[in-house]
Amino acid sequence: MCARPISVDDQAGWIPVCDLDRLKAETIVRVAGRDLLVIWNEGDVVACARACPHEQADLALGRVTAGRLHCPRHAASFDLRDGAITAGWPSQPLRLYPVRITGEQIWIEMQERQPVR
Ligand code: FES
Repeated sequence: MCARPISVDDQAGWIPVCDLDRLKAETIVRVAGRDLLVIWNEGDVVACARACPHEQADLALGRVTAGRLHCPRHAASFDLRDGAITAGWPSQPLRLYPVRITGEQIWIEMQERQPVR
C-alpha cells in the first residue's frame, strides 16, 4: 500500500495517474503533487481526496474492505460509491473524482463529483 507516489501530467483536466496492474497490486495509490488517492475497490477504480473530511487524517494509511475506505485515525469509514461517511459521524462526505480507463492507464478528472443521494 502506498509505497511511492506516482507522477501526473495535466491534459485538459484529466491527469494520468497509474496503470491498472499497479493499482491492483497496491490497492491504494497516492497521486504525487496532489492530495488524491486512487483505490482498487472490488473490481472498480475510485479516486478520492487523500485527507479525511472528519479531522484530516491521511487516508492513504487506511484500508479498504467491503466497498468502504476505513480512516486510520477513528472508527469511521466511507462508502466508495458516493463518499458517504458512517452514519452518526458529524462530517462531510469524502470527495470523489471522476475516473476513466484507457487501455491499462487510469485517468482522474480534477473536478469534484457530487454525491448521489
Ligand atoms: S479523522 Fe478520519 S474519521 Fe476522524
